[in-house]
Amino acid sequence: MRTLLIAGNWKMNPISTETAVALAEGIKTGLGTATDVHVALCPPFVYLSRIDQALEGSPVGLGAQDMFWEAAGAFTGEISGAMLVDVGCTHVILGHSERRHGLGETSAEVNKKLVAAIEAKLIPIVCVGETKEERLAEQTEAVVLEQLSGSLAGLSAEQMAGTVLAYEPVWAIGTGLTATREQAQAVHAFIRGWLAQTFGEATAARVVVQYGGSVKPDNAQELLACPDIDGALVGGASLKASDFLGIIKAGQEVTALGKP
Ligand code: PGA
Repeated sequence: MRTLLIAGNWKMNPISTETAVALAEGIKTGLGTATDVHVALCPPFVYLSRIDQALEGSPVGLGAQDMFWEAAGAFTGEISGAMLVDVGCTHVILGHSERRHGLGETSAEVNKKLVAAIEAKLIPIVCVGETKEERLAEQTEAVVLEQLSGSLAGLSAEQMAGTVLAYEPVWAIGTGLTATREQAQAVHAFIRGWLAQTFGEATAARVVVQYGGSVKPDNAQELLACPDIDGALVGGASLKASDFLGIIKAGQEVTALGKP
């Protein structure tokens, strides 16, 4: 069975090291040594090293929110996978919609980053999702398909099995609008079907596919209980330890009950 992964995407927050460390410590203390769900925190680059120290002795993973595809060299402002590993990262988010839509990142670029992340032995979290206009135009599956095939091009089945996907409808990110469990499960089942066709059933059954978009403690359980939803990528609600811990608790309850 797939273990749920609950990851906190802090985005460009909080604005001080002190607050960032306090948040990580609050989550570390609240989770304790539990490993029934996997948990990762993805703070801004500048806090990674300090948060790695704060998380020492805890099962909580550490992720970056992006990386560059080259290993080292004259790339002003960029950060490589090896550098992330060096400061304690286990995970890296790639192709978040705020980068795809806000900064023009393409699936071809996400693919190059993904190959480099795998090379660096990071667990990539590759994000896909449609905008509101695309959903209204009934383009959801076409858009997700284009993002999946472009971003995951050239992966072996084994590399695919070790890559996490996050379905994040853009219209649900930071808006308070959440996909209903039916809407989310439908796209997750579509993604699982595409994975099965492309990489085989056995691989598809191993891939963790998170949902993201206004996940909160009070809607987490119904989303996480869906058969093809294997965790959550949490933005806003990951900035308050009690809210994030509430989402983790929902994941632990769903896990204890057993997924359908
Ligand atoms: P949100 O963000 O939970 O604030 O909607 C999710 C994300 O962007 O990963």
